[in-house]
Amino acid sequence: MISAKRIDARIEELAREIKAAFEGTEKLVVVGLLRGSFVFIADLVRELDMPVEVDFLEVSSYGDSMESSREVRVLKDLRGEIAGRDVLVVEDIVDTGHTLSHVVKFLKNRGPRKLETIALLDKPSRREVEIKASWTGFEIPDEFVVGYGIDYAQRDRNLPYIGKVRFV
Ligand code: IMP
Ligand code: MG
Repeated sequence: MISAKRIDARIEELAREIKAAFEGTEKLVVVGLLRGSFVFIADLVRELDMPVEVDFLEVSSYGDSMESSREVRVLKDLRGEIAGRDVLVVEDIVDTGHTLSHVVKFLKNRGPRKLETIALLDKPSRREVEIKASWTGFEIPDEFVVGYGIDYAQRDRNLPYIGKVRFV
């Protein structure tokens, strides 16, 4: 669906916009949502030539099934403090929106100075809660995708591109 080359080019654009949006930030806290964002965050931070700190948050969502449980639990909390800091939350896909909206509420509770979000992919047609990431890499149709960190039952995270799963 999306080649490694297109992802690369898009990340360069996004990084430029993020740097502009966080101009003057002393040290940006970049929070990756485990596990699907690990490839994206790795490529993104390497395009951000500004001081960053990398932290991770893990919340439960799909398990190994394809349907969102709609119930979001924190499995692994941040290591660092975000009160009074500038934070960028990095997500792989915004689908129904439950995960990102829960995470934003959870983190805003800690009083960051500024909190923005970025999602590599967005499936707007699947939305159940009204939320949009501050930045989106690509809007995609309602297809189940894998690769570039994103899995289906823990497989295919290591594909360098985004591919759609063909169910037969
Ligand atoms: P939401 O809470 O429904 O927005 O779910 C978001 C999470 O569901 C993402 O972080 C992904 O982990 C997972 N997800 C949604 N769509 C896909 C997909 O097409 N492939 C793999 N995982 C997906
Ligand atoms: Mg996820």
